[in-house]
Amino acid sequence: MKKHLTILAVLSLLFVCTVSAHDGSQLWLQGSAPSATSTLEIANTELNQSWKGTAPVLKLNKSMKALPDGSFSITIQAGMPTIQSASEVGLLYGAYHLLRLQQTGANVSDTSLVEQPSYNIRILNHWDNLNGTIERGYAGRSIFWRNSADQMRRNADGEVNEEDLLHPKDAPEIPSIDRLRQYARANASIGINAYVPDNVNASPKVLTTEYLQEVKKMADVMRPYGMKTYLAINFASPMVIGGLETADPLDKNVQKWWNAKVKEIYKLIPDFGGFLVKANSEGQPGPNDFGRTHAEGANMLAKALKPFKGIVMWRAFVYSPSDPDRAKQAYLEFQPLDGQFLDNVIIQIKNGPIDFQPREAYSALFGAMPQTREMAEWQITQEYLGHSNHIAYLAPMWTEFLQQVKEIAHCPINNQLLAMSSQQSAQGSKLKAQNSKLTAISAVSNVGNSPSWCGNVMAQSNWYAFGRLAWNDELPACQIADEWARLTLFLGRDDAASAKALASVKSLMMRSREAIVDYMMPLGLHHQFAWGHHYGPEPYCDIPGARPDWMPSYYAKADREGLGFNRSSTGSNATGQYPADYARVLDDPETCPYDLLLWFHHVPWGKTIQHRCGSKVIRESLWEALCHHYQHGLDEARAMQRDWERCQGLIDADTFADIQRRLRIQTRDAQWWKDGCLLYFQTFSALPFPDDVEPAVHDLDKLRAIKLGITNYECPSQELLDSVR
Ligand code: GCU
Repeated sequence: MKKHLTILAVLSLLFVCTVSAHDGSQLWLQGSAPSATSTLEIANTELNQSWKGTAPVLKLNKSMKALPDGSFSITIQAGMPTIQSASEVGLLYGAYHLLRLQQTGANVSDTSLVEQPSYNIRILNHWDNLNGTIERGYAGRSIFWRNSADQMRRNADGEVNEEDLLHPKDAPEIPSIDRLRQYARANASIGINAYVPDNVNASPKVLTTEYLQEVKKMADVMRPYGMKTYLAINFASPMVIGGLETADPLDKNVQKWWNAKVKEIYKLIPDFGGFLVKANSEGQPGPNDFGRTHAEGANMLAKALKPFKGIVMWRAFVYSPSDPDRAKQAYLEFQPLDGQFLDNVIIQIKNGPIDFQPREAYSALFGAMPQTREMAEWQITQEYLGHSNHIAYLAPMWTEFLQQVKEIAHCPINNQLLAMSSQQSAQGSKLKAQNSKLTAISAVSNVGNSPSWCGNVMAQSNWYAFGRLAWNDELPACQIADEWARLTLFLGRDDAASAKALASVKSLMMRSREAIVDYMMPLGLHHQFAWGHHYGPEPYCDIPGARPDWMPSYYAKADREGLGFNRSSTGSNATGQYPADYARVLDDPETCPYDLLLWFHHVPWGKTIQHRCGSKVIRESLWEALCHHYQHGLDEARAMQRDWERCQGLIDADTFADIQRRLRIQTRDAQWWKDGCLLYFQTFSALPFPDDVEPAVHDLDKLRAIKLGITNYECPSQELLDSVR
């Protein structure tokens, strides 16, 4: 017996030691990125290096041309896999799909499937500056651009030297071809087929010949992996780098300048995708500066790109300081322009009408411009979800959005919907048929040059989830979590202990987003973030002279009566921008979904509401409900810690320790959020915490004084946080 126990102990020790050590740089993939320049060769190399079994056959099949580009079929008969597609890139996607099936433990002995993408363009937006910093990036510096010294001077407080910020020493030189190839491969493996390497707050310099030469080098690396290159451009480029006196889109010389620039780009990059434009938003130049509309601006660029089959992704993220409700502004500016955009323009709309909050109502612009192409923009980088310190799996947020736009807005943002709605009217079907050629979905990337690419290994799941949903927007969030965790943390592990640990990881992932909503901004509250960097709570933020809509108090509207922004028909009437049936539901606080209540209504502290907190449905006053959600968020953060602790010894030790450390930060932050928000709102409600809500551990005045002093491209360190809260 004793002998058996010793053997068991040795075996389990061996087992723990064989949990492979890695720094996360492998992502969800095995082997290395093939350096071949032919797509077919890459597909074959990937299968050769990772497929276990009879070598798969890859077949080009022109009869599949009717399906969207990249579609493929896989059949496995008597153990022999055959992948077919009309294009080489489809065969590459098929190869990655087949490997994924095998590596996630699916039964692949007898399979027959066809896969086609939900959107034609599946694109990552990188907010990378030419000096190598990444706006809202929490994973190091850019993989696309760098400062020649790749460093910025800092003062004693860690703030970046003003001079370096204003006049960065750009070096038009891409950091590492190898890293770019790995990036291209990771994207291809999940079906992402496009990228924008520069920030939407675009530097005109990116269009200089010097920089375009570098973009060409990137494009050459990306091409064999089916990745198309796009650029974010600055609307005033003809003035800044072209020496013209105006950037007026109706000016002949301006048009000539853009035509010539576009020609120059296509000479270097024949398959260039087009432009992404942030115009007349947050200080960026745009057509309004010259008395022209967004449509006139977008169409001028669209005309220049048209001969080369290029497109314009024109962002609808606009909010002039003059309008009383920021949530209404994109709709007010864009909806009247419906029908005026050329057919190679697509309007890129953030999922919600404010700005990537942990929970938002969907943007009413979706479905409100039936004669205009629309695409969604999500944010993978966690600007508003605890940066790379908090563990937040975002697929549940995105699937919630997709469900809303499909069911409520009936928005034709993907192919399946187009097919359905084209039966509705003859005229409609004509437009929809054209539309179907240009469907797209985008997300702001969280990729940087940190070893784990995304700041931590768990954050990779959001890059993965975006790709998988962009390919198939019907996939359930839990299935994607399962795939990702198996591929990244538990590859080749099918023992009982690993199965338990896998279940814990999935539990952590699936509860994480709602936990964050609860400890940051429950019941429809939004934008209670610290000024500028958006890390941590600051409902009490007060910057004299600042734009009101950059202040948390503008959104919470806390007063002696109650809490929340009245956007009903008795307030700003943002509810009126939604389809009539849904508008009616939102407009009445009795029928408005409880998780959007304070988004649409100013609710008295004592009013009884029915809400769900965790698994419980409760009727109680707004104040009690608020307290219970903050408490629940904190409890959930603790539960996430416990979920993770169960994985000790069953996943890579470094990954385990790193995430464990971040979950500790997250739990302390959840406490900070709960105390900061509840103590502040209590100054208005003057009500006590319910008995089952823990008393605050912080002091409100001390919390008010916290200023992290970090830039918009940094995640606060544990030391910094421990020193202030
Ligand atoms: C947010 C974000 C900015 C970004 C902007 C945008 O406001 O804080 O950093 O530039 O969104 O999407 O353009």
